[in-house]
Amino acid sequence: MSNVYELMTDAELDEAIRQLEGQADEIRARGLSLDMARGKPSVDQTNLSRPMLDLLTSESDLTDEGAPADNYGIPDGLPSARRLAAELLGVDAANVLVNGSSSLNLMHDAVSNAYTHGIAGNAPWCQQGEVKFLCPSPGYDRHFGVTAHYGITNVPVAMTPDGPDMDEVQRLVEGDPQVKGIWCVPKYANPTGISYSDETVRRFAALKPAAPDFRIFWDNAYIVHDLYDEGDKLLNIFDALAEAGNDNLVYEFASTAKITFPSSGMAFVTASPADIKELRSAFAVMRVSPEKLTQLMHVRFLPSVEAIHAHMAKHAAILRPRFELVQEKLASGLGDTGIASWTNPRGGYFVSFDGPEGSAKRTVALMKELGVTLTGAGATWPYGDDPHDSNIRIAPTYPSLEQLGDALDVFVVVVRLIAAKLVREARQG
Ligand SMILES: Cc1ncc(COP(=O)(O)O)c(C=O)c1O
Repeated sequence: MSNVYELMTDAELDEAIRQLEGQADEIRARGLSLDMARGKPSVDQTNLSRPMLDLLTSESDLTDEGAPADNYGIPDGLPSARRLAAELLGVDAANVLVNGSSSLNLMHDAVSNAYTHGIAGNAPWCQQGEVKFLCPSPGYDRHFGVTAHYGITNVPVAMTPDGPDMDEVQRLVEGDPQVKGIWCVPKYANPTGISYSDETVRRFAALKPAAPDFRIFWDNAYIVHDLYDEGDKLLNIFDALAEAGNDNLVYEFASTAKITFPSSGMAFVTASPADIKELRSAFAVMRVSPEKLTQLMHVRFLPSVEAIHAHMAKHAAILRPRFELVQEKLASGLGDTGIASWTNPRGGYFVSFDGPEGSAKRTVALMKELGVTLTGAGATWPYGDDPHDSNIRIAPTYPSLEQLGDALDVFVVVVRLIAAKLVREARQG
């Protein structure tokens, strides 16, 4: 289907470009400085958790069910923290480790341990020649960064509205013993915001990997990050594994980073009893001292899953208008042009935007020139290499509503201008 600029005569196209360039010049003259680069909570959101900081004072009882939070020991995490994490993930607390403030850190350490020490008695990945990881794309740049850091080959796999292309995943995982893992964000994926369908989850759980040391890195970062009362429902991967009669296949991660404070939350991991035993012994060397005072504060502030949901409803009230503004601005600015498509998530932190082929790098560069910083074009693909150069991650959470509206107005002009120029360049050969 042709887009609005392809349907124009040469003269009409020149006039459209002249007008859009005029609008860009006006924007440039405003000297904007707006940032939509990363998925950070806004100040209003982090303020929601400030009362947590008053819960530990010099007078506080610093034990949790008899476990001391103010000294060495309890390497698996405080009992209440493990129970809360387990309840959130729908698993047995015995299989949960709560450690550190960043789930990405845990993912890194799980990769690092497999790389240097191996999984389940198999040779370390570093001794197995080329090792590959599947990277559903567009996806989370920092995931891809972890595996790239170890020289693991990141292999892109297409995303569909139901999750990764499972035919492709199954073919690669079951056919190639060098494929050792896959990065998954199963709920409100970064950046598409889609949640995996039940069938996708079941197909993951039923995989029969060629490599005995293949693991699914199930990063449930947005497990409670719904924008609406009725959130997306994700099948519990461990229930699906039990149904499929499979075991030792999944490491699941999550954190309170975007529930309370990024970089000062609680991070956790769960896996099968055998896998968690292995991670526990690795962590006994790597990270023997979890931040237990942080854990204590968290379980006193958010003592139950119900309390977490009530807290997340306050986040949703702040975020919903931002996400709705993105939809409104994109629909009114680009809706009838045929030059772009974008997702409409019901949770998470991002909207995934696709412009014309060959437009993303130019769009991000011109946005920067006009004073709006976006996530780098290509960042959502392994090695920063978007084969269509079309995908842009929109992160609407951090700016104020007013700033977000301004940034999106600029975005619409820039996307139109680049799209129109691409048509003219194609005509000029
Ligand atoms: C999918 C995903 N996983 C993990 C993280 C980071 O989580 P943490 O702060 O717990 O390391 C993010 C942050 O943007 C994310 O989008």
